[in-house]
Amino acid sequence: MNFDPALRLHDPARRGFASDNYAGVHPLLLDAIAAANEGHQIAYGEDVYTARLQQVMKAHFGEAAEAFPVFNGTGANVLSLQSMLPRWGAIVCAQTAHINTDENGAPERVAGLKLLTVETPDGKLTPELIDREAWGWGDEHRAQPLVVSITQTTELGTLYSVEEVRAIAEHAHSRGMLLHMDGARLSNAAAALGVPLRDFTTDAGVDVLSYGGTKNGLLYGECIVVLSPAASEGLVYLRKMNMQLASKMRFVSAQLVALLESGLWLESASHANAMAARLSDAVSGMPGVTLTRPVAANAVFAILPPGVADRLREVFRFYDWDNATGEVRWMCSFDTTEADVDAFAAALAGLLPAAS
Ligand SMILES: Cc1ncc(COP(=O)(O)O)c(C=O)c1O
Repeated sequence: MNFDPALRLHDPARRGFASDNYAGVHPLLLDAIAAANEGHQIAYGEDVYTARLQQVMKAHFGEAAEAFPVFNGTGANVLSLQSMLPRWGAIVCAQTAHINTDENGAPERVAGLKLLTVETPDGKLTPELIDREAWGWGDEHRAQPLVVSITQTTELGTLYSVEEVRAIAEHAHSRGMLLHMDGARLSNAAAALGVPLRDFTTDAGVDVLSYGGTKNGLLYGECIVVLSPAASEGLVYLRKMNMQLASKMRFVSAQLVALLESGLWLESASHANAMAARLSDAVSGMPGVTLTRPVAANAVFAILPPGVADRLREVFRFYDWDNATGEVRWMCSFDTTEADVDAFAAALAGLLPAAS
């Protein structure tokens, strides 16, 4: 039987800036899936691709690193945190953290963990901000703050420096807490910082990492990477119990190996970041357009004159970020082109009132 081209149901020419998840799969990763597809392999992670992934993760994150491929980022976060905490444990995180705002309460409902959230100006925790909720150890009336979770890059597009991560890790550890990093956009962070992945993870004191593959061009698949073996317990059981154990794991692992063994992870992330920089350069200075946050990686946040966002969205999809202020978010991905950015900027310019 041949593939019926009528089964392509979408218009590939339609592009947008809504999310780095709107992009398709990087062609080289589709090749990796196809190459892994011949013949049979043992299911549930006993395959050669998952074995190779362990080596690849050790090469990036150090000899102690242990990799647990999962389906998605919510699963990676919830499982990581569950493996780091006892039933009475709590997590200090930014109010804007994905685990708080975008995971439908899964840390609380699936793992039974309490989130202690902190308001931040820019999505980033600091030792001082952590201390607003890191207290009350030994008090049976208070969920015990035992983990700090930070996101790199943050949900607001901001970036922790190596020193900032190190300071948070030292602070958390000095209080008997562990450090989790949600690295859904870890590659974008490495590209922005210009340092190897381990500089701001393993070497900075992160204990458990949710490594993001999907936003970096995978079909699907993320990976929990335990960096401090003593910080996590029972992941192998928790992964199955929480429905994140892929039977055909070889296809998640084959993609991650292809991504991380070559320079593809960095090339794709650097490109996405460069497209965001191009976009912010193109729109800054346009009359009525205010860029609301520094553009550190692949996200651009802006406020537009009333009514403009909805008209622009007729051509390019993107999301409102804050309905109260009218702030919108534009994301770039590995497959955003210069032509996409230029067309978007031109469409926006065409909708703005002329500068007086
Ligand atoms: C910061 C962050 N963490 C985790 C995720 C992963 O979520 P998902 O469960 O949709 O893969 C996302 C995706 O939007 C994210 O932005």
